[in-house]
Amino acid sequence: MLKYYCAIYISKATLPITDLIIKNILEKSRVNNLERKISGYLYYDEGYFLQYIESDTANTINKLIAVLEKDQRHQIINCFKTSHTGNKRFLEWSMGQIDKNQLINLNLEQQIINYMKWLKSLNHNIDMNSSKIWNMVDLLSSHKKVLQLI
Ligand SMILES: Cc1cc2nc3c(=O)[nH]c(=O)nc-3n(C[C@H](O)[C@H](O)[C@H](O)COP(=O)(O)O)c2cc1C
Repeated sequence: MLKYYCAIYISKATLPITDLIIKNILEKSRVNNLERKISGYLYYDEGYFLQYIESDTANTINKLIAVLEKDQRHQIINCFKTSHTGNKRFLEWSMGQIDKNQLINLNLEQQIINYMKWLKSLNHNIDMNSSKIWNMVDLLSSHKKVLQLI
């Protein structure tokens, strides 16, 4: 199994972020990341960025984080790094953008509905031991706990 390295961070924008700024960041990221074999996605909302990046080497991740730390357009607030074994999560995205509307489609309740509809369409009775459903429900409940704290 292949090992890869990843990081996720949130940062606070230090200036009003326009669509043009996002477009410039994405264009630059896509060119650079393709060359450096980095994949991931970027999300922006209400003054905060959320970016996930992944690469074959820890050094590549560390180098990009060092560049990002110097970028005056934002200030990194919290960053987590780790390594994983298996397939990369966003292999086909040199830097994808997830916007709010897409995120709404990604909401967990909808995912569970779609998954259960899909199982039904295959004429599968839901296997009560199927961990996928229960993992989604666990996720849902952990999200709900976080939402209640805010
Ligand atoms: C929120 C945010 C995310 C960014 N993501 C990336 C990225 O994934 N890859 C990248 O090369 N540059 C990214 N940048 C831009 C870098 O900070 C830097 O400006 C750029 O890498 C410089 O590239 P250059 O040396 O080719 O001019 C990002 C900037 C911001 C503000």
